[in-house]
This record gives sequence, structure tokens and C-alpha cells, in this order.
Amino acid sequence: MIDFKENVNSNQKTTEETRQQMSFLGQAKELVKERSERRGYPLTFHVTTFGCQMNARDSEKLTGMLLAAGYVEKETEDADFVIYNTCTVRENANNKVYGRLGYLHGYKKQNPQMKIALCGCMMQEDVVVSKIKQSYPFVDLIFGTHNIYKFPELLVSVLESESQIVDIWKEHGDIVEDLPSVRKYPFKSGVNIMYGCNNFCTYCIVPYVRGRERSRQPRDILRECERLVKDGVVEIMLLGQNVNSYGKTLQQEISFADLLKEVATIPDLQRIRFMTSHPKDLSDELIEVMASYKNICPHLHLPLQSGSDTMLAAMNRHYTKAHYLSLVDRLRAAIPDITLTTDIIVGFPGETEDDFAETMDVVERVRYDSAFTFIYSKRTGTPASAMDGQVAKNIVKGRFNQLLERVQTIGAEQSERFVGSKQKVLIEHLNEQDPSLVTGRMMNNSIVHLAGTEKMIGQVIPVNIKESKGFYYLGEPL
Ligand code: 5AD
Ligand code: SF4
Repeated sequence: MIDFKENVNSNQKTTEETRQQMSFLGQAKELVKERSERRGYPLTFHVTTFGCQMNARDSEKLTGMLLAAGYVEKETEDADFVIYNTCTVRENANNKVYGRLGYLHGYKKQNPQMKIALCGCMMQEDVVVSKIKQSYPFVDLIFGTHNIYKFPELLVSVLESESQIVDIWKEHGDIVEDLPSVRKYPFKSGVNIMYGCNNFCTYCIVPYVRGRERSRQPRDILRECERLVKDGVVEIMLLGQNVNSYGKTLQQEISFADLLKEVATIPDLQRIRFMTSHPKDLSDELIEVMASYKNICPHLHLPLQSGSDTMLAAMNRHYTKAHYLSLVDRLRAAIPDITLTTDIIVGFPGETEDDFAETMDVVERVRYDSAFTFIYSKRTGTPASAMDGQVAKNIVKGRFNQLLERVQTIGAEQSERFVGSKQKVLIEHLNEQDPSLVTGRMMNNSIVHLAGTEKMIGQVIPVNIKESKGFYYLGEPL
């Protein structure tokens, strides 16, 4: 489903840029058509995504542009144009990409016309680009996070060139609206509300690779949401690295709570989610809005990172354990059946047994429905990478296992509270193991398997929650 949006956005400069890129897309289409005819089959593409929801949304944009250029999507990587949209938040994300480039080289040897492109956060790092130039010369195109909207232009260049093209911008430009995009799912979609991050948590590479925080205009966001709903979307996820500071960089300041209210009043929009919330910017106003609108999902992902005030200060998080716990109390008082999920890092430089005990204490008190747990990964260029007191690997591993065991046990215990309840479930796909079942999500983001058929995909149906299996449920359509 290609979404060619009408060109009526709020910024004259970006309209001009959009026009230019659409013209490059026309040129790319000619080239792809001519080559497909010459080869006797339609040229194919594949986009592989690593990392977060923001990258997933960027991949939908790249997919939309490749479809508009006349390529046909292929499920496997033995395609004529392959893009890796990379992540660099932890070191193992980088290693995965290097590992898989070897496979791609194998495909390219069989199909020398194949084009390989790398983009995303990892490409914003100088060391990565140098390494690729030196050790992976078969890569045809490297671009970064700031110039993704220039992809049609880059596509034409790469189709007309035999040498490696590298185009990385250090700074972001304007936000360019209205380029083609697709949705992976016809019934749900992410919507970017802001890009970049200004928080500089000391362990995190995101502000360096995604640039400074900038918000989209509210009218552009609302227009996109309204159009999605008209097109049959029932669930929208508003996306940003720190949605709670939405609007602070706009001339006419508007809060995230205000934006959320506007989105929630779009007629026929059944579900709204958002990611990610920084605890330092979570306002009472936002809690009130979440509690007041039935179509705002009762789920909050609220990254804790650490329960120790010393670690939180060293991480530059700008909140304390007490403040975090008070937010949780306020959220539960306003929205009693809310599910809470989090991110926790173990082994930040200088973390002592006492610091770790504080993290475990928050886990015991909050009783998260689920938690993503990470071993601290040293990212070159971040302040934490130069900090003293890097914790020994075996100690970190021991703490990590202890934490994982507790979050899993608590998550399973917490999930019992919805057994026996009736829930609205949005059916997302056929069950991967058992095709007589379908899989969907409750409003609170929990996964449910139930008997069903493909026809139900995209529908919201009432379900009796029969049994909890720890991190998913078995249900029965009502
Ligand atoms: N090491 C480990 N985890 C990290 N995260 C971000 N940077 C690092 C790092 N250097 C985690 C944080 C963040 C999530 C997306 O990734 O918990 O919330
Ligand atoms: Fe990274 Fe912190 Fe920004 Fe999240 S808020 S992207 S953890 S710097």
C-alpha cells in the first residue's frame, strides 16, 4: 500500500525538497524499468531492519520509495537491491551487521548487478564508515540518519555508478514531509512526532547518531494520523526518543499531553500508543490525558535504567529513585489497570552491589509487567566510555542473571491479574507455530493467542482471557 501524500505541508522549503525527490524517483523508475526489461524479470529489493521502532518506521519509508521506483519486494536477501538499516545502541548490534555482510557478499558474487546499501545509526560513526570503506568494498551505498529523505537521489546515483557512494551528514536538515511510505501492517502504523534526542544520557550514543531533538508540526502529525484512520488504521503509535519533551523546539510551544489529546479525538481512531517516555519529563497533565481517553492504551514504557541515585546521576538521567516511584504511584492511582514496562542497564561504570540492590528494590516495588534488561555496552565517544570503574564481566553477568530471573518471575505473576477478564484484542497475524490460531494484542500491549482465521487479521474482537503462560495469554473469542 503506497501512501502518496498530497503536497500541502507546513514548510515551503520542504515542499520544494519533496518535489525534487519525487522527480528523482521518476528517474529511478525509468532506470529500474529499463533494467527489468533488459533482465527479463522485475528487479527485486529487500530491507532488513535492526534496532528500534524508529528504524522500523524509517524502513517503511525506504520500502515505500523503492516500491514507487518500481522494485518488487522480496522476502529474502538474494535480491537486486538490499538495504541494511542498522542500529548501534549496543556493540552486539554492530557485530551482527558485520557478520551478515559476508552472506550478502556471497549473493553479490552470484548476481554482480546486485546493489548493497547500508544506512541508519551505525553509519553515523566515523570508525564504522572507515571500516566498511576498507574491508567491505562491495558495499555500493552508505548513507546516514539525517539524509534518508534524499534516498531517491542516492538511488539514482547508485544505479548509474559502479563505485562506492558515501553520503553521511553530520547535522540534520529540515524535516521533509510527504514522501512515499508504506505500512508493514495495513491496520497499524507508527507516526514520527519528533526526531533526535537532547538528553545525552552518558551511556547512550543516540544523541550523536540521531542528532538534536526536533519536533514535527502538530498539523502535519494530525494530518498523517487522520489520513491513516481514513485508510483503515485502527492503531497508531506515536514515535520519538523522548515523546514527553515533544513541542519544546517548536516556535509555538505545545506539550505532548496537548498533542495526545488532539490525536485521541480523531474520530474512529481506536488505539493510540506512544514510545518512549523519559521519566524526567512525564507530567501530571499527561497522566490525566491518558486516564481520560478510552482510546489511549493503558500501557506505559518508562525506562528506569537504574534504581540507584548515584548511578542515575552518573547516567545524567535527571531523576531520583523516589521521583520514579512517585510517578508509578500517580500512574497507578489514575489508571489502575495500567501495564508498566521498562529498560534496565546492569554494569554501568562504578555500579556497586549496593547500587544494584537499589535497582532490584525498584523492580520489587514496581512489579513491572515486563522489562528489557541490558548489559552495559561501552560506546565510543560517550562520556561513560571514559569513566573509571568499568565493572568486571563475571560480576555484571551474575547481576544480569539475578535481575532477569526476578523480572521474569514478577512478570509472570503480574500477568495473572488479567486472567478471567474480557479484553479487546487487535488480531495481528496467524500464529507462527499453529495456523489454527491467531495472535493479537490487548489494549495494554499483552500478547494473546486464540482460535481464529486469517480473515480476523486487523479486527478488534472481544476475547475472554482464559490462561496466562507467563509472557503471553491464551484466550477465547466471545
Ligand atoms: N549499553 C546498554 N544498554 C543501552 N541502552 C542504551 N544505550 C546502552 C548502552 N550503551 C539501552 C537503554 C535504552 C534502550 C533503548 O537501550 O536501556 O533505554
Ligand atoms: Fe539515549 Fe537517553 Fe536519549 Fe533515550 S533519552 S535516546 S537513553 S540519550
